Amino acid sequence: MGKGFFISKTLGIVGVIVGTGVVATIIALSVVYSQEKAKNLEVVNPHTTPSTAKDPWENYRLPDSLSPVSYNITLWPRLVVNASTGLYIFTGQSDVVFRCEKETDLILIHCNKLNLTLLSLTGLDGATAPTIKKSWLEVPTQFLVIQLNSNLMAGRQYELYTEFIGELADDLGGFYRSEYTEGTSPPVKKVVATTQMQPVDARKAFPCFDEPAMKAVFHMTLLHAHGTVALANGMNLASVNVTVNGQDVTRTSFEPTPLMSTYLLAFVVSEFGFIQSPEGEKVLIRIWARKQAIAEGQGNYALEKTGPILEFFEKYYSSSYPLTKSDQIALPDFSAGAMENWGLITYRETALLFNPASSSNGDKEWIATVISHELAHMWFGNLVTMKWWNDLWLNEGFASYVSYLGADSAEPTWNVTDLIVLKEVHGAMSVDALASSHPLSAKEEDIVRPAQISELFDTITYSKGAAVLRMLSDFLTEPVFARGLSTYLNTFQYSNTVYQDLWKHLQMAADSTPGLELPASVDDIMNRWILQMGFPVVTIDTATGSINQRHFLLDPDSVVDRPSPFNYEWIVPMKWIKNGNDQTPYWLQTETATHLPMKTSGSDWVLANTKVSGFFRVNYDSGNWDRLLTLLSTDHEAIPVINRAQIVDDAFNLARARTVNTTLALRTTLFLQREREYMPWQTANKNLGYFFLMFDRSDVYGPMQAYLNKQVTPLFNHFKTITADWTKIPEKHTDQYNQVNAISIACSTGVAGCEELTTGWFKDWMNTPENNMIHPNLRQTVYCSAIAAGGMEEWDFAWRMYKEASIASEADKLMYALACTRVPWLLNRYLNYCLDPEKIRKQDATFTIVYIAGNVVGQSLAWDFVRTNWDHLFNDYGGGSLSFARLIEGITRRFSSEFELKQLQQFIEENAEQGFGSATLAVDQALERTKANMKWVAENKKDILTWFTVNSA
Ligand SMILES: *[C@@H]1O[C@H](CO)[C@@H](O)[C@H](O)[C@H]1NC(C)=O
Ligand SMILES: *[C@@H]1O[C@H](CO)[C@@H](O)[C@H](O)[C@H]1NC(C)=O
Ligand SMILES: *[C@@H]1O[C@H](CO)[C@@H](O)[C@H](O)[C@H]1NC(C)=O
Ligand SMILES: *[C@@H]1O[C@H](CO)[C@@H](O)[C@H](O)[C@H]1NC(C)=O
Ligand SMILES: *[C@@H]1O[C@H](CO)[C@@H](O)[C@H](O)[C@H]1NC(C)=O
Ligand SMILES: [Zn+2]
Repeated sequence: MGKGFFISKTLGIVGVIVGTGVVATIIALSVVYSQEKAKNLEVVNPHTTPSTAKDPWENYRLPDSLSPVSYNITLWPRLVVNASTGLYIFTGQSDVVFRCEKETDLILIHCNKLNLTLLSLTGLDGATAPTIKKSWLEVPTQFLVIQLNSNLMAGRQYELYTEFIGELADDLGGFYRSEYTEGTSPPVKKVVATTQMQPVDARKAFPCFDEPAMKAVFHMTLLHAHGTVALANGMNLASVNVTVNGQDVTRTSFEPTPLMSTYLLAFVVSEFGFIQSPEGEKVLIRIWARKQAIAEGQGNYALEKTGPILEFFEKYYSSSYPLTKSDQIALPDFSAGAMENWGLITYRETALLFNPASSSNGDKEWIATVISHELAHMWFGNLVTMKWWNDLWLNEGFASYVSYLGADSAEPTWNVTDLIVLKEVHGAMSVDALASSHPLSAKEEDIVRPAQISELFDTITYSKGAAVLRMLSDFLTEPVFARGLSTYLNTFQYSNTVYQDLWKHLQMAADSTPGLELPASVDDIMNRWILQMGFPVVTIDTATGSINQRHFLLDPDSVVDRPSPFNYEWIVPMKWIKNGNDQTPYWLQTETATHLPMKTSGSDWVLANTKVSGFFRVNYDSGNWDRLLTLLSTDHEAIPVINRAQIVDDAFNLARARTVNTTLALRTTLFLQREREYMPWQTANKNLGYFFLMFDRSDVYGPMQAYLNKQVTPLFNHFKTITADWTKIPEKHTDQYNQVNAISIACSTGVAGCEELTTGWFKDWMNTPENNMIHPNLRQTVYCSAIAAGGMEEWDFAWRMYKEASIASEADKLMYALACTRVPWLLNRYLNYCLDPEKIRKQDATFTIVYIAGNVVGQSLAWDFVRTNWDHLFNDYGGGSLSFARLIEGITRRFSSEFELKQLQQFIEENAEQGFGSATLAVDQALERTKANMKWVAENKKDILTWFTVNSA
């Protein structure tokens, strides 16, 4: 699945300016899952002792007695509400041919929320089918259980036929419906039937062996109303008009799929339009979306880039695209960012649709990287699939890593492969520094229930997975890495693997590369990064050349109760620079070591972890820190731009962990007066965001604002100059990002001329709503700044524009900016809109609440709102639309007082019985963070106040 929690790239790219000035990154957001709701109903009583003699259907995993061969499925979604039941429904028939591997008198097949109307079993090739003794739906484990009067015979094949009815609910999971309106006079409501199967919702669409290793061939047929179009994984074959149950419908059948996993199935019935690649191309590429979006050309960018990215991956993997077509479809309601269904990739609209007149460069980058992520899965994940969900990190971490390579091939001038450090590496470190983090790789037996599977779709899986694979590729070198991948994909195509299989193939590639020397096997090195949580901070003492590594914890007092097979020690590949020159890379393999080349004298400086290719933080003796800081203030470009960002990020995090003095961290921001590059600014902005969260309600706020005002003024003036007084947009991709930083930080810290600029632009727009002259790159921050400075009139105008926006990315920017107002009743009203799907789509509700909580005025309103409406949000509000982990993280980010800790604890107690589902870990992390914040504020407030006071003068 496409990194669901980055759905709104606005979170990652632009700072919250409301009252605070800088953004705090949303750290541990996790993907939204539709079975959220189902899982919550599952009451798990921790006090019952597990019975030793369980019935097979009480286990969540399938037994190994049966395996599917092929399915023949016909589904008929009704896109109008059923008058008698008031429900949208679908009906279906499915035939599954399976092989009996071990003699058994029991059939277990997944089936969830379907009402079965017919069931029959036939023997194939002369096998006699046993008669059915009893069958029922086992709700907790989501099985259809069929007990037989005699045994199925090993080696024989059977066919199980079912007919069923299901609800086409708006729950974003399984076979579900999405709605939108088209036209204006009058607007017409349209309904789309679509799917999201990953991880465990194929069983909501038809009875199936719903585990990734249960690969089969799927023959799909869809019945649909005349005038609608049906899509599935395979190419659509004939469409014919037929009469079924007295109704005239179209029947579309599809090319059978290759052997594949159920979670990658997709089918869509809609009235969408499409554009396609020119005739004669090897692979047919089609982009589907609402007709209006297609007519406005919003699919053109995706169409233009898909072909080149596919070709890039064919070369990269040395393996041709396994299918004949690639459909990509943008859905108005979609829970994750995108989903890599084989041959029919589904997207949120913001992840696929682009309009040059209203989309920003960030929107564009988001589209390129999401497409690239999903296309990478067509091989890695789809052709070769993890055996079980415990290896999800390999699937998602890999796709996240190579998505930057694919996007770089499509947009080579952007240098996106550098941005991976901001977008994945630093984000992963902030979560992985908690004692409540978890190892990348889980044990198969620990991941069984749907909630446990869902919980895996988190920052660690995606971003840390990407970061450690990037490190691996870096020390093997990219060609060796790609060679190993290629033999891996060829060996295991159409089957399943465990992560050790990849290590083995990378090892083979390494062994056959002359001159490549590793201190240990790939397995030995990498297992330390995936089987134990966390990462090291490496401390280099340049006075002696001694080096040591230690498990880095954001709160050094937190208790690590998770044992590690490697005692929290790593094999650390370290690239480093001395006085500007690259040195021979060093491998740190023990807790302490001495590397005399790192011993320096005089003004010599050492900088380790060049380009942040390794997943660790670096600390130095104070002499080397001083030399680095001096260099930054005299000749900052002597240090590569990624490492300028790294110095800031490491120093701030080491300070939070009380490893270095906070004033040292603050000193790493002094050079920003002369810095014009995006990465260091963005990192400083993010880290100072933490200071704003902690202090924006205290007396530190004034001096902190004054200091930042002073630092950002030259940047603001720089952009004013290079854009000819804001009439042009800078050339360079990252300059375009930094222009946004310049304006947002300047406006929120009161730099002269800034607010006038943004409110002026906004006023012009209010005067001519049909003619928005604000450049798309700047819209989000301009809207936010103007709405923060304005009142009801501005808010209501923006709300109207939000409702009328014809492209989702524009709507997203407004949705974000509406949270910027400082008027409490407007914020409260906006919060209430989050419970009304007519106003805020369910897929967006969590984001909106989190945006509001990011506003200093909105924080307590959002917290009260969530507590008041918790049961409703948790149980009744369509589980698929809300990610509770994200919500918990977002609303508790500012917590730093005894009082807030008490409130949080009380909230946890009150809801203990029902539990927190996939947010369980997020709740623990919120507690851990709150306690760490309290300590940090108590210890640092005085020094920080003094420092800002002195340095803002
Ligand atoms: C699928 O089932 C339908 C009838 O239910 C049948 O007409 C069709 O031939 C079957 N297709 C395959 C590939 O078995
Ligand atoms: C399935 O059966 C249950 C119980 O009879 C009923 O409440 C539900 O509406 C049915 N679902 C559909 C989609 O017909
Ligand atoms: C099916 O019927 C519709 C409506 O009568 C018609 O427009 C369409 O051309 C028909 N399609 C086929 C394949 O006959
Ligand atoms: C991209 O990176 C290269 C090497 O790091 C650098 O020389 C170039 O200026 C960068 N380009 C842009 C547009 O930032
Ligand atoms: C941090 O440094 C400041 C100024 O250099 C000093 O006053 C303060 O005591 C130091 N704080 C700690 C915790 O060492
Ligand atoms: Zn993915």
